[in-house]
Amino acid sequence: MSQSSDPKLDAYWMPFTANRQFKKSPRLLTRADGMYFTDDKGRQVLDGIAGLWCVNAGHNRPRIVEAIQKQAAELDFAPPFQMAHPKAFELAERLVELTPAGLSKAFFTNSGSEAVETALKMALAYHRVRGEGSRTRLIGRERGYHGVNFGGISVGGMVANRKMFGTLLSGVDHLRHTHDPARNAYSMGQPLHGAELADDLERMVALHDASTIAAVIVEPIAGSTGVLIPPQGYLKRLREICDKHGILLIFDEVITGFGRTGQPFGAQTFGVTPDLMTVAKGLTNGAVPMGAVFAKQSIYDTFMQGPEHLIEFFHGYTYSAHPLACAAALGTLDTYAEEGLLTRAGEMQTYFAEALHSLTGAAHVIDIRNMGLVGGVELAPLPGEPAKRAFSVFLDCWEQGVLIRTTGDTIAFSPPLIIEKQHIDRLIDTVRTALHRAA
Ligand SMILES: Cc1ncc(COP(=O)(O)O)c(C=O)c1O
Repeated sequence: MSQSSDPKLDAYWMPFTANRQFKKSPRLLTRADGMYFTDDKGRQVLDGIAGLWCVNAGHNRPRIVEAIQKQAAELDFAPPFQMAHPKAFELAERLVELTPAGLSKAFFTNSGSEAVETALKMALAYHRVRGEGSRTRLIGRERGYHGVNFGGISVGGMVANRKMFGTLLSGVDHLRHTHDPARNAYSMGQPLHGAELADDLERMVALHDASTIAAVIVEPIAGSTGVLIPPQGYLKRLREICDKHGILLIFDEVITGFGRTGQPFGAQTFGVTPDLMTVAKGLTNGAVPMGAVFAKQSIYDTFMQGPEHLIEFFHGYTYSAHPLACAAALGTLDTYAEEGLLTRAGEMQTYFAEALHSLTGAAHVIDIRNMGLVGGVELAPLPGEPAKRAFSVFLDCWEQGVLIRTTGDTIAFSPPLIIEKQHIDRLIDTVRTALHRAA
């Protein structure tokens, strides 16, 4: 029963995939260039989601390809514990020139999930090192996505990602999510209503006492649960409440980082600076796995005490700051800089928003949300069959040669930042046709 029609597809247990459906009707990508993938039948497929929110500069960019090739021949690996290689320092320095002022230290990981675990551990250890070891509670948010490791799913708020895996981390609470279609449906950019939802944090302080709370983690824009744009004033209020109570604010910028919202980071677009910030994906344009955590100078300084020969933070990965990843990231930063890509979403966002909102009134559409080059189109679910209608739209678009992504009954758009107007038109027209045909 679990056999696919092609036995060559049997051995691979695919992540976050309907394995049986896929293996009956595979969608195989074999090449990519610019805005397009090529599939195994030679069809060109327009990439509407930057691979998976990561290929921000488009595919097969020469500077990145060359950097990886050269690095592989020069230094394949350097141990990152008690040793290093020059590109790790060069990359950290280049990155902290782009981050919001104050986030001046970079710690490298291999994925967004690992960046999240690292940030949560930094927060806990930071409080302990400075003598407030009672601050152990972590606060996440309903409908948050912070990767798939135990810390991330504990602070995350996606039920399917949590319910199979036992009791998770203890001492975690969740703010309410900010999705409020009754008041905010079809908002262009940041919705008007909902800043007061940040006051949930005050309620948690009242319940548990601030002296037990280490950190709050949120995505500036919640991507994986269907593109939830923060209401006006919400993130600022969260920042103020954190400051009032000595709680660290962590922004998970794994999808909002590297130009997605019109500035290098969402923190800059929304004008709120966190204490810790996680990134991955666009850091290497998706070419080599890599993530990072940026920390405030004062957090780093807090760890730098005790005898100098002792390790200050007992954490790290064999592949932290891997030479290939560092080379790919440096090639990526060059590409972003040369082509002005970290602010290009700001230039394209009006055209993109208008195109997206032209789907208002199309079959099944109940809400449209956007910011920078991120878009979400929410569909009414098929009665009793959540996610099925959106998945059928995804399959129809694929047949038409366009790659989109769906999460639940929301279609998500996050195209490469090199996108041109004609690509946006094609993307939206394809979705419109698929919606029209969907049951
Ligand atoms: C906000 C956020 N955090 C963390 C992650 C996990 O990143 P990774 O899949 O690289 O572990 C993702 C992935 O989509 C994400 O969107």
